[in-house]
This record gives sequence, C-alpha cells and structure tokens, in this order.
Amino acid sequence: MNIPTVDLGDLSSDDPSRVERGAAAIREAFGVFGLAYVKNHGVDAAALERFYDAFGQFISWPTEAKKPYGRADLWYQRGWTPPNTEVAVAGNGQPDFKECYFAAPYPPDESSALEFPSLYPENLWPPDAPPYFQEGLMTLGRALHEAGLALLRGAAMALGLPDAAFTGFCERGPHVTRALQYLPLKPSQVNTGILWGEEHTDFNLLTLLPGGRFLDPNARPASKPDEQSGLYLRTRATPEEPKGRMVRGTAPAGCIVAQVGQQLEILTGGTFLATPHVITAPGVPGWQRQSAAHFMHVHTSTVLFPLTRFRTPEAIQNYAPPVLAGTYDIKTLVDIGLAPPSALDQLGYRHYDRLNRMRTDGTGT
Ligand SMILES: [Fe+2]
Repeated sequence: MNIPTVDLGDLSSDDPSRVERGAAAIREAFGVFGLAYVKNHGVDAAALERFYDAFGQFISWPTEAKKPYGRADLWYQRGWTPPNTEVAVAGNGQPDFKECYFAAPYPPDESSALEFPSLYPENLWPPDAPPYFQEGLMTLGRALHEAGLALLRGAAMALGLPDAAFTGFCERGPHVTRALQYLPLKPSQVNTGILWGEEHTDFNLLTLLPGGRFLDPNARPASKPDEQSGLYLRTRATPEEPKGRMVRGTAPAGCIVAQVGQQLEILTGGTFLATPHVITAPGVPGWQRQSAAHFMHVHTSTVLFPLTRFRTPEAIQNYAPPVLAGTYDIKTLVDIGLAPPSALDQLGYRHYDRLNRMRTDGTGT
C-alpha cells in the first residue's frame, strides 16, 4: 500500500528518464489511488504555519464580527462559511462541523465573470483582518496552483496527451483557495457520529492540500489527539477490496497531497477516479483542526466530457450528457447547500412570462 510520491523536480528535468519516472508515479498515484504525495512543491511550510495562526485569530472572532463576511448571496464562494452550512452530497445530509474562508488567488477574469457572475466574485477581506491573513491565503493559493499546474502537465504526459491537455482548460478558471477550521466538540457530542467533513469527492479538477494541524483545547498547535481524527482518503475499488481502503491523508514529511476531482475523472473517462475523502472528528472534546485546500477548476466554458481518446462506449454512457463546466459548478453548489435551489432556474429559459404578458396586456416587449 504505497501511495507514490511525485517529485516535481523530475517533471521539470531535462533528463527524459527522470520525466518518465515522474509520469509513471502520477499514472500509479492517480490511476490506482486517486491521490499523490508531492515533493519539491514550492509551498513554504513556515509561511503556512504563520497563515494558520492568522486564520485561527479570525475564526476566534465573535460570530457577529464574522457575519458580514458570510455571504449567502455570493453562495459563500468568497469570504466566511459559517458552521453547519455545507453538506457533502454523498453523505446523508449532515452538515459539516467547520468554518471556512474562501478566496481566489488570481483576479477574476472579466469576460468569464459576465457569463458566470456567481463563480467569479471579487475577494472579500475584513479591513481589520489579522496580519498575514490575506497575504498568507493568497501566497499559499498561488504556490499550490503552480504545483498543481506542474502535476497536471505531468498527468497529461502520463496519459500520452499533449503537455497542456489539462492546463489549457485551467486558464482563467474559477480557482479558489480555502482555509478550513474544524470545530471543537463538546463532551456530549463526542462519538455521536458528528463528522468534521462527511465523505465526498471534490467537484473540481484537482485539489492540492498543503497539510493541516490540530489545535489542543487551549487552541495551541499540537500533534493529533488520537488515531481516529483527521483526513482519510478512500482508494479505488479492486476485486480484492471492493470498498477500497481508507488511508490516512497525512503526507510524508515535506510533501503535500494532490487528489483527483470529478472534472479530471470525467475528462479521462474514469481512467483517473475522483478520490472520496472524509474528515473524522476526534474521540475527545475541545480539539480543533486547521487545514487548507486549493481547488483547481477547468474554465467555465469547458465542455465536461471524456477527451476523444477516452471516449469509449462505456465512458460515454457513464459521463453523458456533455455539460458546460460552469453549469456543472452551479448544479454542484446547489447540491452541496452553498447555492440556493433557485440558482438552477438560471439554467433554462427565463422569459416564458413575456408571451403571457403579450397575450394579456400587450406589455411583452
Ligand atoms: Fe473535499
């Protein structure tokens, strides 16, 4: 059970044998496990700790102070997500016991924002945010994005596609970086089935996880409180293990984790499968967990359907009909409880009332 480590230094090497070694690691990591450990990723570990400190300070603000940044009208795609808001669609509808903060590490693309305003809002920042909150999240997001682009170029090579087969779809995409804080359980909540994050697959292309940390009941960084808490990933089903296997998502020292999202699964016709993952709460009260994730998305105008070479009859059946990525994003944000169900009304014709008005009082124009 060895999840491969992909060395980004191999992928950028002039030595073809090193490049092939990197591509082979991705083939196995994404094809068999749905995730990879990544080294030489360019994410600064000390800066990450500093950011978590700043984020923890923000989360400790009273709810009233955070409320202006919890924007249901933005579908929570920027700013603060209050606790018990998001639900994992594969779960039983239990909301996640967490608070988050979303920001886009790159400015929104203007023409894309005209087409999909709810997917490209401007970032939101509290004017009195703790020092290094904004800069820390933006810096982290950009470093993870660069690592992700290198991995995606490697993934294309690994599948015998042109280098830019996946990164081309990412240009000007609605990428978002998220900081997460999983909340402390009261003694009465311990072992009652509350999950920090219900098992689900991510709906984007590729997710980069720089590694999280626990906070003890005094809100000080500490090693894990017990064996049960934290991120677990489910590997691909095999005849021997039809339920896959739950693997702790802790990367080897110095590595980050990359996991396959639904968009990469669809484009590869299931050659790479989206990785199910769950964040279990500890068996002791008072502990929290901080983590971060960068979600790389294909551009909203990309058609989500298996690429030509993966378009087998089975893949067509599994992933039909082709859907525009922006439309798919809206549907998923409704599914997971961040966008209101009325958002789906935008996906069809919205002017039926014109004919009614013309017929009744002639004001249809
Ligand atoms: Fe996730």
